[in-house]
Amino acid sequence: MITALLAHPYPRFSVITIPLLKGLKQQFPQMDLRALYDMYPDGSIDLLAEREAISRSSLIIVAHPVFWYSVPALLKQWFDEVLAYGYAYGENGTAVKGKGVLWLPSLGTGYREGEFPGEVEISEVEAPLKRMWTFCGAKWLDPEIVDTRKSLTAEGFSDLIERLANRIADWESYHD
Ligand SMILES: Cc1cc2nc3c(=O)[nH]c(=O)nc-3n(C[C@H](O)[C@H](O)[C@H](O)COP(=O)(O)O)c2cc1C
Repeated sequence: MITALLAHPYPRFSVITIPLLKGLKQQFPQMDLRALYDMYPDGSIDLLAEREAISRSSLIIVAHPVFWYSVPALLKQWFDEVLAYGYAYGENGTAVKGKGVLWLPSLGTGYREGEFPGEVEISEVEAPLKRMWTFCGAKWLDPEIVDTRKSLTAEGFSDLIERLANRIADWESYHD
């Protein structure tokens, strides 16, 4: 089972993250696609529901546009509230242990090549997320970073979905 945490506060303007997740949902109809900003418009996250979704899954996809070298605010709140002591770490906190985490950030729109985050900077965005999930015992998979400064053709986009679908199917064949 796959849970996808999708955090995009402006879905109408999304040309990458939302189409990408919709494409994956077509390939994996059983995927639990959790559009956090649709589900929790008032910012009040249902912790029980989120934890149930996580406990059903062997793979957690985390998809969002990069906002100021970080994640959109509701996703940060999700991390802070859902991955709590006694659940995700600390005493009896083993809920995400052994689960795979696949990070799918998109970035770059409005910035010139070399101007905003390049290779070095995206690794800086990745570092705290990777540390957080691995601290909780999850397995950090190679992320799939979509840099909108590098032009993505329709064909490139389908290739990306296909590559991701293969990786996800591979993970599932070993872990479900
Ligand atoms: C508030 C805000 C902050 C952003 N910060 C960054 C950033 O730090 N680095 C970056 O490369 N792009 C940044 N962007 C651009 C978005 O990451 C980019 O538009 C988005 O990933 C495109 O994906 P989408 O089509 O799914 O919206 C920012 C955009 C907004 C609205």
